[in-house]
Amino acid sequence: MSIASNGLLENRMKYKLVLDHITKTFGALKANDEVSLHARKGSVHAILGENGAGKSTLMNVLYGLYRPDKGCIVLNGREVRIENPGIALDLGIGMVHQNFMLVGRFTAIENTILGTKIKGIHLSLREPRKRLLELSDSFGFEIDLDQPVWKLPVGMQQRVEILKLLYHNVDILILDEPTSVLTPNETQQFFDVILKLKATGKTILLITHKLGEVMTVSDYVTVMRDGRVITEMATSEATTQALARLMIGRDVLFDVTPEQATHGENVLEVKGLCAVNDRGLPALDNVSFEVKAGEILGIAGVDGNGQTELAETIVGLRSLSAGKILVDQVDYTHVSVSERRHRARIGYVPEDRQRRGLALDHTVAQNMMLSSYNKPPFARRGMLHLKEIRHQAEILVRRYDVRLHDVGQPVRELSGGNQQKLIIARELRENLKILIAAQPTKGLDVGAIEFVQNTIVEQRAKGTAVVYISTELEHLLAVCDYISVIFRGHLTPKMSLGETTSEKIGLLMSGGG
Ligand SMILES: Nc1ncnc2c1ncn2[C@@H]1O[C@H](COP(=O)(O)OP(=O)(O)OP(=O)(O)O)[C@@H](O)[C@H]1O
Ligand SMILES: [Mg+2]
Repeated sequence: MSIASNGLLENRMKYKLVLDHITKTFGALKANDEVSLHARKGSVHAILGENGAGKSTLMNVLYGLYRPDKGCIVLNGREVRIENPGIALDLGIGMVHQNFMLVGRFTAIENTILGTKIKGIHLSLREPRKRLLELSDSFGFEIDLDQPVWKLPVGMQQRVEILKLLYHNVDILILDEPTSVLTPNETQQFFDVILKLKATGKTILLITHKLGEVMTVSDYVTVMRDGRVITEMATSEATTQALARLMIGRDVLFDVTPEQATHGENVLEVKGLCAVNDRGLPALDNVSFEVKAGEILGIAGVDGNGQTELAETIVGLRSLSAGKILVDQVDYTHVSVSERRHRARIGYVPEDRQRRGLALDHTVAQNMMLSSYNKPPFARRGMLHLKEIRHQAEILVRRYDVRLHDVGQPVRELSGGNQQKLIIARELRENLKILIAAQPTKGLDVGAIEFVQNTIVEQRAKGTAVVYISTELEHLLAVCDYISVIFRGHLTPKMSLGETTSEKIGLLMSGGG
């Protein structure tokens, strides 16, 4: 063996896991271009990068969902081939996807042992229960193992996912944007869990867009841009601003130019709205508010307090059990979705982009034209004008900086953040009277968040009445004229930013105040 390869071997032995010059292409696109990453035992390694930088692709290679074109994976000093997730699990590598993969009607115990190889015909739950309880206790999880998973709050479902991996004895955990669905409180508990995992020698690979989080919980950070690694460094040597700059190649100001709002008449009036959620339980209790032209009303609240149902009721996707919705004093309470969209000119950025916002198997161009495909210039005399559709889609994609290969690509192939940008591009392009934006910044990188915030402010300047729903108080405070808090289906009266503080709003969000 040569000295050089000896040195390489030593280098590899130093790490729990080495991703060595991984290249993964999709057609002409290099999603990962010679990407290397070195993760140590008992550490948290953050992976940071713009939307579409290649983070999920890299983790999918590690988890055996994609085969790399080039490069290798070295685990405990030995090269391994990971051809599918089953092999990854056997090697001690587990992944929690951004959209959880739990089966809702099964309990935590049943979900955990799903996929376990069964010996014989009977599957006893006694042994698994004992081990799960021990594991759950030692990490302070406090999960009710016998509840069907859909009844558990999101933070707890996430712990079930993690518990499932621990039950399978993984020692490398891949977490793809784990905190984007958590409340501030749950995020804190999640950090505690991470620290405990680390203390027991686990290696955690953490994808996140939240720079503060990287600074708080990670030991090392790899920054990616355009499929390549820009840097791999100890977090102690980084700052938030430096990371942002490395990530997007320019300074991010983290603030938005406030425009003076010119308030007009009440455009949207919601009166005494009541509605139930998908489980048939009350979700909105007598909700009333008004928004004027050129005004942004922020609705702050922890996920699951009725904000989804509120947005869906206003745009007509959910029926209401009581109340009224007026646009310019005209009653729209029982008008179809399409009429609300075209006649009342209500734009809607839905929170669940995959379920409500996009047709994943259709092309980007088709998705951009959803809902206006039957109008000129896209259709003439009953014929779709395909070239025009393509052309318009290309313009929008450029303006909104949606990163993709070709507007003829299926939307499924876009990165999570770029799918979100696509919806925003589609919804904001028309001449809107009202914009309902539900979590428009979810899953976006810092540069894209800044862009979306500015776009919302531009809408206000054009006289649109904006309802901006978010769990991120910081984002709301940056652009809103007024803020209301929603908690368990109740909405507080609107407060102007002068008369309230972020502490007060935070308290209201958790039901206090
Ligand atoms: N199955 C696929 N087919 C074609 N292109 C793909 C596929 N999966 C990913 N890509 C492309 O690879 C690039 C990297 O995507 P990836 O999902 O890894 O980004 P990401 O860093 O996770 O972004 P985000 O922060 O938005 O989730 C993107 O341009 C994406 O469109
Ligand atoms: Mg991703």
